[in-house]
Parts: sequence; structure tokens; C-alpha cells
Amino acid sequence: MNLNIALLPGDGIGPEVTAQAIRCLEAVEEAFGHHFVFKEAAVGAIAIDKTGNPLPDRTLELCKEADAVLFGAIGDPKYDNDPKAKIRPEQGLLQLRKELGLYTNIRPVKVFPTLVEKSPLKEERIKGTDFTIYRELTGGIYFGEKKISADGTVASDLCEYSEKEISRIAHLAFKAARNRRNKLTLVDKANVLESSRLWRRVVSKIGESYPEVELDFLFVDNAAMQIILNPRQFDVILTENMFGDIISDEGSVIGGSIGLLASASIGDENALFEPIHGSYPQAKGQDIANPIASILSAAMLLEHFQLFEEAMAVREAVDISLKKGIVTPDLDPNSKYGTNHVGDFIANNIVDNDDRLNMNDENIGLGKSTII
Ligand code: IPM
Ligand code: MG
Repeated sequence: MNLNIALLPGDGIGPEVTAQAIRCLEAVEEAFGHHFVFKEAAVGAIAIDKTGNPLPDRTLELCKEADAVLFGAIGDPKYDNDPKAKIRPEQGLLQLRKELGLYTNIRPVKVFPTLVEKSPLKEERIKGTDFTIYRELTGGIYFGEKKISADGTVASDLCEYSEKEISRIAHLAFKAARNRRNKLTLVDKANVLESSRLWRRVVSKIGESYPEVELDFLFVDNAAMQIILNPRQFDVILTENMFGDIISDEGSVIGGSIGLLASASIGDENALFEPIHGSYPQAKGQDIANPIASILSAAMLLEHFQLFEEAMAVREAVDISLKKGIVTPDLDPNSKYGTNHVGDFIANNIVDNDDRLNMNDENIGLGKSTII
């Protein structure tokens, strides 16, 4: 298969982790005979520095022309601490989601058996957790009208949803549940918010066309508690933009590290794949960032194009690295392995999985032979 992939490494650790995902995609090309063309463009703080715009026109054009976008991370502390900043790196990502029509963000939360004891939560609570968050991504409070009074003392952000915005993601979430364990939980705040009551009405109606899927509802405050208390109860969680942002970071704790969680953002015409973690500026350039979330985002990209065997090869290679303890320090504080080494190890296992048992793990990433 030929694929044109727009590469938007972005800020902080984005370029480092994306480089490892590319290595893995190149390994897939080699092992399965595909042809991927990568074209890189600037987004976020780095794009502001270069052009004054967090999403330059050229970047947007490149993404529109590409079959898929591989995104790194966005954000820089110099903007976080300046409430007066008019231009912010995050605007680049939000505008990109809007312009590409990426209304469904899919965030799988799974406990890797080999990492179960790495989670700060008790093993018996989290073992076997496997749910997916369907987060609405182009509406709600993120995109509603923003106002600030002339004297700067009163501000508001409007949370608005239309039936159409709710129903298009709801159908995708029901279909996902049908292919999984037939359970869908709508997370909202319908006891307080009118927009949440609209979500309930629309989703309940759509649920009638998916009789095999059991639909239930949870208020977001209760959901935040249930995700930690009993995460196994969830199969597919459907929710609006900001609730999804918050509970997906919460979900990442279950798996032991936010550095493991991948995501796909899907629209009718475009698709973007990105780790859910941020730009982690403190780790930039230190070769300590976990590349697995970015690599698993590349696996989701492959699945999007029906390359299931290829995606499985990537996931298996990740599993091997976790099993063998070839991991970054977020997963093992005593680990001597860095971003590059872990990425190399995973890429090597994709290319030649027959040799995986004979791997000389020490030499991978050092430019030496990988086979004993
Ligand atoms: C995410 C991030 C973004 C969001 C930020 C960087 C704008 O936190 O993808 O979860 O809030 O959507
Ligand atoms: Mg977030």
C-alpha cells in the first residue's frame, strides 16, 4: 500500500517520540512491502517561532493532502505562564482538528499484563481493564464563543452542541461497542447541563437502532470515581470534548504511564494519530521520553487503513519490549534504556520477529549487530 503521511512532530518531546514511530513505520514498510512517504511540517510553539502562526497555511495544506497525519505533541511553558498571550501553541492543534473535521477522538485504555504492578492502583482493581474512550473533539466548550468583559474581570466560554455533532460520533461509538463487548456508557452532567441533556436524548434515540448494545449513563463526577474504583466495568465510554480530555488523562494512570496511551482522531475525510501525552518540556532532548504512545498511535494509523497484520506486528513488538524490560525510566526508574534504544528495539522486532528470541538487547540502539 502507498500512503502519504504528514508528519507534525511539534514541540518538546514530540520530535523525539515521533522519530521512533517513524522508525517503526519504516520497519513495517520493509517487513510487509509497503511504501510510505513522510512529509514534515511545523506546528505549535515551534511554528510560532518560525512564522508567528501555530498552524501555518503550508502545514494545513500538507495535512489536507495527506492520507493521514502523525502528530507529536504541542505546548511550551513560555505560553502556559502568560495568561495574556494572544497566540498559543494549542490553538494550532485545535484549529487543525476543526479544519480537518476530526470529530471523533478514540483513546484506548488497556492494562498491559507485564505492567500491572507498575500502576499506582492496586493490581486486583485494574487487572483486565480494557476500555475505549470516544471523545467528541470539535465541539463543546473548547470551541464555543469566548468572552471577556472590557475591564477583564468577567470571562465566559460557551458549551454548545448540536444534534448532528452528537449523533455522528454516537453512531461510531455504538458500532465500536458492537465489535467489542456490547456496552456503551455515556458520560455527562445531565443533572446540571442543558447540553448534557441533549446528549442523553440523542444518544438514547440512536441506541434504539443498536438493540444489542447495552447503554448506560454516568455523571462525569461519578465516572471519574468509577474509572479508578472499578475500571473493568467499562467497554466503550462516549463523552463530550472536555470531559473526555479529563477522564482520558485519568485513564492513563491505570496503565502505569501516560507515555503508553495512543489516540486516533477521525473525521469523514481525514485522520490524525497522536499520543495523548503533552510536550513534556522538562524531558526534551534528554532521551528519556517514552516513545510507546507514539508507536502505538502509528499502529492505530495502520489499523485505520485495514493493515491489521502490520498493526499487530507493531503491538507484538511493543509487548516484547515491555516483557523484556526494554523500557524508559517512567516505567522503570532503574532502566538504563532511553527513547532511542526502546524505539530501535521495537522497530527491530517488527522487521525480523523470527530473530526476536536471539536478540542481543544490549546492542540495539548502539549501531551494533542485533543478532547474537
Ligand atoms: C489532548 C490535549 C489537548 C486538548 C491540548 C493540548 C489542547 O490535552 O489532546 O488531550 O485539551 O485536547
Ligand atoms: Mg488532554
